[in-house]
Amino acid sequence: MARHPTLVIFGASGSLTFRKLIPALFNLHRKKRLPEGLQIVGVARHAYDDESFRNELAEALRSDPQAPREPDAWAGFARAIRFVKGDVSEPDGLAAVRRVLDADGGRLLYLALAPWLYDKALVSLQRSGLAAPGPDEAAWRRVVIEKPFGRDLESARALNRRILEVFKESQVFRIDHYLGKETVQNILVFRFGNVMFEPLWHRNMIDHVQITVAESGTVGERGAYYDGAGVLRDMFQNHLLQLLSLIAMGAPNRFEANALRGEKVKLLDSVRRISPATAGRHMVLGQYDGYRGSAGVRRDTKTPTFAAVRLYIDNWRWHGVPFYLRSGKGLAKRMTEITIQLHRPPHNMFELTNGRSPEPNRISLGIQPDEGVHIRFQTKVPERGMEVRSSTLQYHFNEPGVPGPDAYERLLLDALNGDASLFMRHDEIEEAWSIIDPLTRVAEDPDAPAPPSYKVGSWGPPQADALIAGEGRAWVLDTASERD
Ligand code: BG6
Repeated sequence: MARHPTLVIFGASGSLTFRKLIPALFNLHRKKRLPEGLQIVGVARHAYDDESFRNELAEALRSDPQAPREPDAWAGFARAIRFVKGDVSEPDGLAAVRRVLDADGGRLLYLALAPWLYDKALVSLQRSGLAAPGPDEAAWRRVVIEKPFGRDLESARALNRRILEVFKESQVFRIDHYLGKETVQNILVFRFGNVMFEPLWHRNMIDHVQITVAESGTVGERGAYYDGAGVLRDMFQNHLLQLLSLIAMGAPNRFEANALRGEKVKLLDSVRRISPATAGRHMVLGQYDGYRGSAGVRRDTKTPTFAAVRLYIDNWRWHGVPFYLRSGKGLAKRMTEITIQLHRPPHNMFELTNGRSPEPNRISLGIQPDEGVHIRFQTKVPERGMEVRSSTLQYHFNEPGVPGPDAYERLLLDALNGDASLFMRHDEIEEAWSIIDPLTRVAEDPDAPAPPSYKVGSWGPPQADALIAGEGRAWVLDTASERD
């Protein structure tokens, strides 16, 4: 008998399943990239049957203007989807799930659950036998855990311990969806697939690095969750520190999970910890006007919706090079970009109009929505003596306005195929929390003043500009400019 792999989604009635997982799986099905015979089993407390579950999924897909309209492909895909009622928070709540699964097939257990249910879900997986080893290698067992992974170092450690009581590290896939983005993976190819950039990647050549993850959207419906998290937990601990690791780490020996993650852990370990006492010199927080009126948010909340942080990396390569990280909601644009600014020419011999100083070279990696690379350098203005101007060399992955595949496509496929390279290891998450914990402690100090406010549609509070301007630098967004 054929041994079909099964993807079991716990939390199948939730928005992650409807908005991300099923659309990504459907796209993979259309591209014929899913493993042969994959079965999908949705589990929730909801009273669906197979038919009504499939119908609701189809309905959600139809209401998404980006989703493909391919009824025949959907019909073929939907046949592989089933629904089983189950409750991860009850000791015997998963017995029915166990009964429908093929014990001999591979099994990807996806926890698309609210984070407070992780612990109970792990107990239930163990107790129901769903996590128990299969008879041979083809009957693999893997678990996917969504973010947020803990809310500080201590809770992340406790969750890691719990997971590792039930699974081996090699079976665990902790998601940070930024790693599933094509442009984030391209950081590795850009750095380690070319020889021309690596010699520049050093304090001798680089003045500073900026990482901006700006969102124009506000908290919307997620006020209750967000108000307990804030931008440092929601964006810095995971997405921004992942971008930092990829841009600053040493070259891994191979593209393989442990080699890659080992380099990232080493980098995070060398990030200089900011103590709560000195945080005021390295961090600016902000809160957008109107945040306190959002549903689910405390009226007197001090939760930051914006942060700008200066980090240093204490190793040979990066000694003395500041890394400026900023992220916020309600900003002027949705825009993620990494800019590497090289030193200015040490001496100028050309004509500079308006008393400008020589421009530094910049390499900007556009993560989204402009997916590409911009390199800025000086050129001569024709027929104007030796006057110079800045020009940009550009590369883009896609046509303007055509987004690449959703990050979940790559991550689901990798988890089904057992490749953990783009997932986080336990020590990586703990290192990241140990960088962020002192900062959240400062943000949540009951005696601290409320963070400065900023207007929705701006670039955050003016103090964020002052953080970098104080060192003779300015925030730049190179890929935001119009394409030539
Ligand atoms: C999530 C955060 O992890 O990432 C959200 O919880 C944020 O608050 C989102 O909006 C941003 O992801 P993306 O892929 O839209 O940049």
